[in-house]
Amino acid sequence: MTAQFPVARPRRLRRMATMRRMVAGTRLHPAELVLPMFVKEGIDEPHPIGSMPGVFQHTRDSLRKAAHEAAEAGVGGLILFGIPAVKDARGSAADAPDGIVQQAVADLVSDVGDTMVVMTDTCLDEFTDHGHCGILTSDGEVDNDATLERYAAAAVAQARAGSQVIAPSGMMDGQVAAIRAALDGDGFEQIPILAYSAKYASAFYGPFREAAECAPQFGDRNAYQQDGAGPVGEALREVRLDLDEGADAVMVKPALAYLDILRQVRDTVDVPVAAYQVSGEYAMVEAAAGRGWIDRDRVIMESLIAIRRAGADMILTYWATEVAGKLQ
Ligand code: PBG
Repeated sequence: MTAQFPVARPRRLRRMATMRRMVAGTRLHPAELVLPMFVKEGIDEPHPIGSMPGVFQHTRDSLRKAAHEAAEAGVGGLILFGIPAVKDARGSAADAPDGIVQQAVADLVSDVGDTMVVMTDTCLDEFTDHGHCGILTSDGEVDNDATLERYAAAAVAQARAGSQVIAPSGMMDGQVAAIRAALDGDGFEQIPILAYSAKYASAFYGPFREAAECAPQFGDRNAYQQDGAGPVGEALREVRLDLDEGADAVMVKPALAYLDILRQVRDTVDVPVAAYQVSGEYAMVEAAAGRGWIDRDRVIMESLIAIRRAGADMILTYWATEVAGKLQ
């Protein structure tokens, strides 16, 4: 008779908000959020990015203000991308001592360097006139080893300007080793490398390419970024190589479409794992919410919880300041 009623009732733990809060297995904390920021050389006003409402290409001044707001909200770190006034084939502005990233990093470190971690993305695509992440051969391919020297120079320039974490995102083979050696050779053996280890050639980067003005002028990035349908184990191999080369933390990117990869990586390594909730993930939510089709705030939280639950220790998200403010 009693057997027709359940003895086990999972709903008992769901009845009250206090109960749900107490038994929650996944929590978000502002300190694990990282805000990606864009600074553009030679503009007088911040430029809104059409496909990313609420995100701006900053002037040096508006960047400082936005970084200050992030720090106030308790955001753990920021990662800086720069758009130079002049681009060329080798991305000269990437390692120029007075390049826009170097100037802005110095500002940020002096303003918020004690309250949040100031990181720099290290790549060439924002700085090259062709928009690829490296130096090209005469055939128009990205020359891996010639590019490594450029990444090393850019990383050293960023470290000299005060960058507290170097984050190489170009997916060249050997990039972590090349950057590690260059940093060590310049006295920056204490500066960590956060490697974009498992970075997929993703359509979800679309809005970023508007934000960073770095869409490839021909071709695509499929010959260096990973294929979403690629070999089983490829992400773990990339992660292992980066760790062998001296990476201090690793990243999976994008987040939402690669939560399985994130989980695999988290279960395999013994370093912090970051996930990047990329521009397209942001744009989709803002666009649908703008039409009243989804509950924006709940979708943002649900997606961040999913990324956290899949194993991210740190999450790069354009909503970092807003979310951190709510969590506080
Ligand atoms: C490359 C880089 C990209 C992103 C971060 N670093 C673009 C790309 O690989 O094409 C994308 C981030 C986003 O979409 O939010 N330097």
